[in-house]
Formats: sequence, structure tokens, C-alpha cells
Amino acid sequence: MKKVILTGDRPTGRLHVGHLVGSLRERVKLQESGDFDEIYIMIADAQALTDNAEHPEKVRSNIMQVALDYLAAGLDPAKSTIFIQSMIPELTELSFYYMNLVTVSRLQRNPTVKAEIQMRNFEASIPVGFFCYPISQAADITAFRATHVPVGEDQLPMIEQCREIVHKFNATYGETLTEPDAVLPSNKACLRLPGIDGKAKMSKSLGNCIYLADSSEDLRKKIMSMYTDPNHLRVEDPGQVEGNPVFLYLDAFCRPEYVQEFMPDYASLDEVKAHYQRGGLGDVKVKKFLNSVMQAELGPIRERRAEWEKRIDDVYDILKSGSEKAEKTARAVLDDVRASMQIDYFTDRKLIDMYRV
Ligand code: TRP
Repeated sequence: MKKVILTGDRPTGRLHVGHLVGSLRERVKLQESGDFDEIYIMIADAQALTDNAEHPEKVRSNIMQVALDYLAAGLDPAKSTIFIQSMIPELTELSFYYMNLVTVSRLQRNPTVKAEIQMRNFEASIPVGFFCYPISQAADITAFRATHVPVGEDQLPMIEQCREIVHKFNATYGETLTEPDAVLPSNKACLRLPGIDGKAKMSKSLGNCIYLADSSEDLRKKIMSMYTDPNHLRVEDPGQVEGNPVFLYLDAFCRPEYVQEFMPDYASLDEVKAHYQRGGLGDVKVKKFLNSVMQAELGPIRERRAEWEKRIDDVYDILKSGSEKAEKTARAVLDDVRASMQIDYFTDRKLIDMYRV
């Protein structure tokens, strides 16, 4: 069986380091592994509209931002097809058929939808489109026969629901669709990066993000202002490492060679942590270390972004040809789907066979 990746992001803002460690870095790794026959990376504008219907300009203005972030992070258009969701009408059609296979109560039980409804204060009035977005996400995945879906942990219930739809479809209409698996980052620290204020989630509305496109100075300022252990008042005091954002970020970003380069008095990150726990290691010093690490990690991304910004016409063409290629793939799958559902009326004249005299 072919190995196919599909994943994507909603274009509601620039991408931040949570996206980078939670999913982007994994995609680039999978892309470079050479293990996959096809890779599709989708800018999920239609999904973004499910809770931004009144703000199409917000979605539109972030299409190029997300595309630039993708290319900056190392997605290579020669290896990965980058496309825009709404340019593939097959996805909408497929969603409509899948809606018949999912119950309202099953959607209500989807933990991601539940959490997001709460976050948006939608309890009293949920847009139907938003409520159904797990179905549309199943369409996104299956329209490309994706076998692997690299996502953050918060998306696992979506993949689970997609697998259920695949089972139901295949059981009802015959083996047609391919069942996907989620791919999570292997580094546990990357599953959920907190905001720089220590809040559990990095989100634009909370103003606690570090963006891939942040300047080196902005990055430094954000790191130096980061929330740490509030009880670590004096340098001599013992400090807490667990749940401390500075150390969570170090777990996500620090490579062994960075300790050697930027903290040569320590043999490993574990030694730095032990010193902090014992007392005697100040927050400023640890933050400076984190700053060096993140500058080293984000610098090349920032430079690549600047290069692509100079070639913005090329970025436009990458999205356009990517969308054309993606539509061809989705159309072929839709042909199979229509045949299985017996709604392929005009591929042959069988519809009128029984009426022939
Ligand atoms: N829900 C994803 C997000 O919040 C975006 C997305 C849409 C997606 N369709 C997808 C992810 C299909 C993986 C597979 O960013």
C-alpha cells in the first residue's frame, strides 16, 4: 500500500513555536525520510471559516503567512504538495456524504469539539458548520487516501472519528476508503508547549506566543520575560523544573550540542536542571541559555522565510499548482466513492438497462 501523508493548519494567524515542535518539525522529518509516496499539506481555510464566517479577510490574509511559515520551516514544494482546502470542491462533496454516517450525539461527544465549543462560548449557539468540522476533516484525510496524519495531541479525537467514518463507509458501501493513523511527535515535551506566560496553551488571543516570524530581538525579549517558578525568588533558593515553561521549552528545543556550546560548565541539560533544583542557578542565566538555543533553532527558519518573501510570486505559484495537483488526487478518490455509493450515473448507461425494451 502507498504511504501517504495529509495534514494541515487553519490559517487564522501566523504559526508559532507550538506548531513547530508539535507538528511542523515532525512533517519535515517525515518529508526528509523519503519513506512516503505522497505528502499533502493543506491550508485549512474552509475549516477556519467554520468559526470565522464573519471574518473572511482574517482567513484570506493568513493564507500567505501560513504558506511562508511552511516553507520557512523546511517543507519543500518538490517533495510536499502544499494546497488550499477550499480550492478542492471534492472535499465539500465528500463531507456531505459522510454526514449521513455520523450521529449528532457522536459529534457532541468529540472531546476536541467539546473543548473548542467551551473556549469560544458557543454553548448556546453553535454554527452547524463548526459542529460538523470533524466530518469535513475526515473528508480532508480520506480524499487523499492518507495513511499517516502528523498532528498535535489535541487532534487525536479527530483522527479517531475519521477512522470510525472510514469503517462505517466501508461496511455500508464496500471497501473503498483508506484508514489513517495519527503520527505524534516522539519527544513528549513537544506534545504541548505552554505559552510564555505559563498558561497551558499557546494562543494568539492570549498574547503568549512566540511566532516563527518573530525577529531575533522580539524572541529575546519574550524569552527574558517568560514565566518561571514563582517561588524561586533568590538565586540560592531551590527551583522547580516540572511545569516550569523555561525548562519545558529547553526539553523541546535543546540538543546535546547546545549544552556544550552555550553552557559549557554543565555536561548535560539534566545537570543544569539538577543545579536549578538544588538552588544556586538563577532564572536569568537559564533564560539566556534558552535564548541562545532558540536563536540557533529559529534563526535558519527566519532566514529562509526572508528568502521566500523575496520570491512571493513563486509562493503563489506553489499554492496554485499544489491545489491543482491535490484536486486531481481528490477527484480520483471521489470517482471511487461515487461508484461505491451507486451515484455514478453517467459513467456508463447501466442506469437505464432495466428499462430497455
Ligand atoms: N484541525 C486542524 C487544526 O486545527 C487543521 C486540519 C484540517 C487538519 N483538516 C485536517 C489536520 C486534516 C490534519 C488533517 O489545525
